[in-house]
Amino acid sequence: MERISDLKEEITLLKKKANAVILAHNYQTGAIQDIADFVGDSLELSRIASGVSADIIIFCGVYFMAETAAILSPEKKVILPEISAGCPLADMITVGELRSKKQKYPGAKVVCYVNSPAVIKAESDICCTSANAVEVVNSLKEEEVIFIPDRNLAHYVSKHTDKKIIPPNGYCPVHNDISKEDVKIMKEKHPDAPLVVHPECPDYVVELADKVASTGGIIRFSKETRAKKIIVGTEEGIIYRLKKENPDKDFLLLSREMVCRDMKKITLTKVLKALKELKPVVAVNENIRIGALKAIEKMFEI
Ligand code: 13P
Ligand code: SF4
Repeated sequence: MERISDLKEEITLLKKKANAVILAHNYQTGAIQDIADFVGDSLELSRIASGVSADIIIFCGVYFMAETAAILSPEKKVILPEISAGCPLADMITVGELRSKKQKYPGAKVVCYVNSPAVIKAESDICCTSANAVEVVNSLKEEEVIFIPDRNLAHYVSKHTDKKIIPPNGYCPVHNDISKEDVKIMKEKHPDAPLVVHPECPDYVVELADKVASTGGIIRFSKETRAKKIIVGTEEGIIYRLKKENPDKDFLLLSREMVCRDMKKITLTKVLKALKELKPVVAVNENIRIGALKAIEKMFEI
């Protein structure tokens, strides 16, 4: 087995040779975050993917994230080091279901969370991420919004808008499984620590939180707060970055169960293999790409 330092060195060399850039989501392991050129939330990474000048993007995240990069940068080769790294939430909506909702609510606009497949984005009016969902919905002039596919984010948005939100059924298993009891235990144990959570958490968790934010927002909140101990209600990978950037603070995961197995499928060995073989490539059918691009670009205009 190769040593971690050898793997990292080889990755750095090959990356330069291939003119590749490594993007990593905040939920990636510490080892992956350390070799990445950029670490961020979905919105930050999609902005970087659209502007970066590399020939190859090695995307350390899940499929819909790499697919978004491919939609934004068709001239670049986008590689997902483990092609089976998916997002269960993204697959909780089908084109058939979306079309029947559109038929049922012909006056509504479709707002699609980026955690969704390209075909769904292509059938939507505008995309959003957890960082801008409220802003995106409030930017629309229509009064009715079909929000897909996350029901908890849809509920969170509905509390911050006067528009009628037609809710979806999807959910993220990592965030949705948090119980009231998990929150109660942590709050009782650490009464001085603020609780910061992702809006994919259920309403009863969001209600008890001091701050609700995207992973990028959680990073900013943690930097800015004067609290020395913070309870974090999102996927465990973010704790590595939080500790690295705030060595004087303590970060406590709301529940030990908050692990996204798909995010953890990306390893240094797989990144190295991907750089050597320049695959697996994530590509999107051109008709679908153009449709999806429109919905993503509308989001960027806001
Ligand atoms: P962010 O956009 O906040 O990084 O979240 C992505 C995600 O998959 C949350 O589970
Ligand atoms: Fe998808 Fe949830 Fe994993 Fe985020 S944490 S990638 S929403 S399964």
